Amino acid sequence: MPGSPQWPHHESVVTSSGARTGLPVIIAVHSSVLGPAAGGCRIWRYPRWQDGLEDALRLSAAMTAKFAAAGLACGGGKTVVALPEGYDLTPDRRHDLLSDIGDAVEALDGRYATAPDVGTSTLDMVVIGERTSHVFCKPTEHGGSGDSSPATADGTLAALRAVGARLGGGAADGTGPLRGLRLAVIGLGNVGSRLAELLSEAGAELVLSDIDAGKRELADRLGATWAEPHEALTAEVDIVVPAALGGVLTEQIVPELRCRAVVGPANNQLAVPQVADSLQTRGIVWVPDHIASAGGVIHAVTVELDKRPEDEARQRVRGIEHTVAGLLQDADSGGVTVAAVTEELVRARLGTPDLG
Ligand code: PHE
Repeated sequence: MPGSPQWPHHESVVTSSGARTGLPVIIAVHSSVLGPAAGGCRIWRYPRWQDGLEDALRLSAAMTAKFAAAGLACGGGKTVVALPEGYDLTPDRRHDLLSDIGDAVEALDGRYATAPDVGTSTLDMVVIGERTSHVFCKPTEHGGSGDSSPATADGTLAALRAVGARLGGGAADGTGPLRGLRLAVIGLGNVGSRLAELLSEAGAELVLSDIDAGKRELADRLGATWAEPHEALTAEVDIVVPAALGGVLTEQIVPELRCRAVVGPANNQLAVPQVADSLQTRGIVWVPDHIASAGGVIHAVTVELDKRPEDEARQRVRGIEHTVAGLLQDADSGGVTVAAVTEELVRARLGTPDLG
C-alpha cells in the first residue's frame, strides 16, 4: 500500500537452494536507486525459512535508508540464510554454505555485494570471495577493509557527541561534550565494548551491561557501574546506548525510561515505528539506529569503493557528528522527531515522493 513503510517495494528478491547444502539462501535487493546494493550476510536460525525472508526484506530496506542518510552511492540489500532449528552447522558444512552464498551473490552479477553481519565474520568473506568479487570487509591482508566494528563504534561516538552537546554536556573548558554525562551502554560485543572504552576516554560516567556476566571485567577496568540489561535500560542516566540485538524500545518500556536520550548502534531498536513518537512525547531524544550505526559502512565504502585513504574514511565517519547536529536542529525547529526528519532526508535523496 502506498505510504506504508513497505513502499517502495523491493526491486528483487531471490531465494535459491545452495547446490552443496540445500539450505535456502535469500538475497533481497531493496533499492539500487543510489548505486549497486550492498548489505551484510546473516546466518541465523529461524522457525521457518519464511521468517528469514521477512528479515531479509526488513533489513535490506533498512540498508537503503542507512546508505541514503549517509550520502553514499549504494543501494540497500541483505543476504539471509535461514538455518532450520537444530541444524548442526559443522565447519565443513559452513564452508560449503559460504561457497553456496558466494555463488548466489555472483549470480547477481554486481547488482549486490555482501559483507559480514550477525553470524558471519571477515574471514567468512574470504571464503565467499573465492566465488565472487562482490564482497566487502575481507581482512586487510586479503585486500579488504577489514572488520568494520571499530568504525561503527567511532560513528556512534560521533552521534553521541552531537547529542551530548544538545543536552548541554561538557564543561566550558573545551574538554568535549560527553565529559561528566552519565551513559548506560547495553551490550558489550565488538562494537559496544570499544564504544565503552571511547566513552570512558571522553570522560563520561558509565553504567555497563551485558547478558554475559564475563563482561563485568570491562566495567571493573573502566571504573564503571555494572547493571543487568533491564536495570541499565531504565537507569537514571543522560543517555541510554543500545548496543545489542534490536527491539528494545517497546511501548511498554517508554514510561519506565529515566534518560534524556537514546542513541546507539543496535539495529532496529524500535519494536514498532510509533515508539519514536512516544519517546518524543516524553521529551526523550532518539536518533535512528541507521544514523548512529553508519560508521562501519561509511568506512568500508570509502576505502573499498571510493578507494580513498584510511584517514579520509575516519574523517567521514566523524562527520556523523555534524549530520546528527543538523538533524537535531531541524527536528527542533520543525517540532517533529529526529526520525521524521531522517525519513524526509532519505526520501529526498532517493527521489521518492511522500506517497502517504
Ligand atoms: N553489517 C554491516 C551493516 O549491515 C554490513 C556492511 C558493511 C555492509 C560494509 C556494507 C558494507 O551495516
